[in-house]
Amino acid sequence: MKILHVVGARPNFMKAAPVLKALAAHDVRQVLVHTGQHYDVKMSDIFFQHLGMPAADVNLGVGSASHSVQTAEVMMRFEPVVVEQRPDWVLVYGDVNSTMAAALVCAKLLVKVAHVEAGLRSGDRTMPEEINRIVTDSIADLLLTPSADGDENLRNEGVPEARIARVGNVMIDTLVQLLPIARERPLDVPEQFALVTLHRPSNVDEPAKLETLVEAIGAISRDIHVVFPIHPRTREALRKLAIDVPPSMTLLEPLGYLDFLALQARATLVITDSGGVQEETTYLGVPCFTLRPNTERPVTMTVGTNVLIGDDLARLRDEVGRVLRGEKRQSGIPELWDGHAAERIAKILVG
Ligand code: UD1
Ligand code: UDP
Repeated sequence: MKILHVVGARPNFMKAAPVLKALAAHDVRQVLVHTGQHYDVKMSDIFFQHLGMPAADVNLGVGSASHSVQTAEVMMRFEPVVVEQRPDWVLVYGDVNSTMAAALVCAKLLVKVAHVEAGLRSGDRTMPEEINRIVTDSIADLLLTPSADGDENLRNEGVPEARIARVGNVMIDTLVQLLPIARERPLDVPEQFALVTLHRPSNVDEPAKLETLVEAIGAISRDIHVVFPIHPRTREALRKLAIDVPPSMTLLEPLGYLDFLALQARATLVITDSGGVQEETTYLGVPCFTLRPNTERPVTMTVGTNVLIGDDLARLRDEVGRVLRGEKRQSGIPELWDGHAAERIAKILVG
């Protein structure tokens, strides 16, 4: 059996790594294709090192472009690879443009495709990722979901039961495996700090919105030190804004997985708009305040530590105040977020 994996952007790597590893224990030939959607060392190469992933067999080198151009470039460059490799299964991960583009290529070539992290829905079609999720799930042959809400969303869209398999959260497999190593990383941070990440176009592409967010976070940094590793999209947007950053905010380059995980595990609280960070903070039991009006990962709110803040920055200030006063919400870990999701995927594919 031959299985081809497609990765392209930062959040794909930690999802694919455990599946590659679980399948390596079986009699399977594996091919790893990197679309090149992310290409900076700190957005790509460093994850191969930190996650112990094999180098990609093929890099399509698509780089940055508009959504349509990037999607089309992945499709044009990926099609000949699939034709040449003729895999039995193609695995696509998450909700980035590379995920949808690769799934479309496979659907047209009648090559079976499995979507890892299927069924998530924010209900917000202004999010590019929501379009990617809907399209990918509508054409994939096998929909591997991380949580019961994923199954429910797919059923509501009329997906037959036989195409759905709940396997749990592969991103948490990586976390479970690497947390002991991450905890050994030296960190130059105060005893208490807030970790911040921001990269959603809806937060960072509009200068006035970004300025408001940075000011609000700057105000919070008077009460608790802020550590902010900056995504390249946000770095570019911030460069155009001449904002004075207070010394109580430490701005960093994007971090490798182990260093970022070390910070998450030690953080007093996290402020983010990342999908994956909402999940990781839930597993770690660290309070997470999400600067978005909705989430495709509702179990992080119902079971975990996530609170949706939307645009209500006064609420953010209040919530941070609560954490600083030691008022912690009860939380738990969602079902099947147990470090064994990738093994369940391998079992389904290989038997
Ligand atoms: C992409 C995904 C998003 C995911 C995020 C993870 C889509 C539609 N978006 O958003 O779902 O949450 O990755 O980080 O697929 N850039 C660099 N170096 C890089 C990569 C990007 O400088 O290695 C800069 C470029 O200026 C580029 C911009 O970041 O134009 C945005 O990159 P892109 O991949 O288009 O979208 P992300 O915002 O990274
Ligand atoms: N992450 C990282 N370094 C950083 C920021 C995030 O390693 O500087 C990790 C984070 O722990 C999670 C993943 O990247 O595993 C989330 O990716 P991102 O926030 O870029 O994308 P999203 O999940 O929003 O699609």
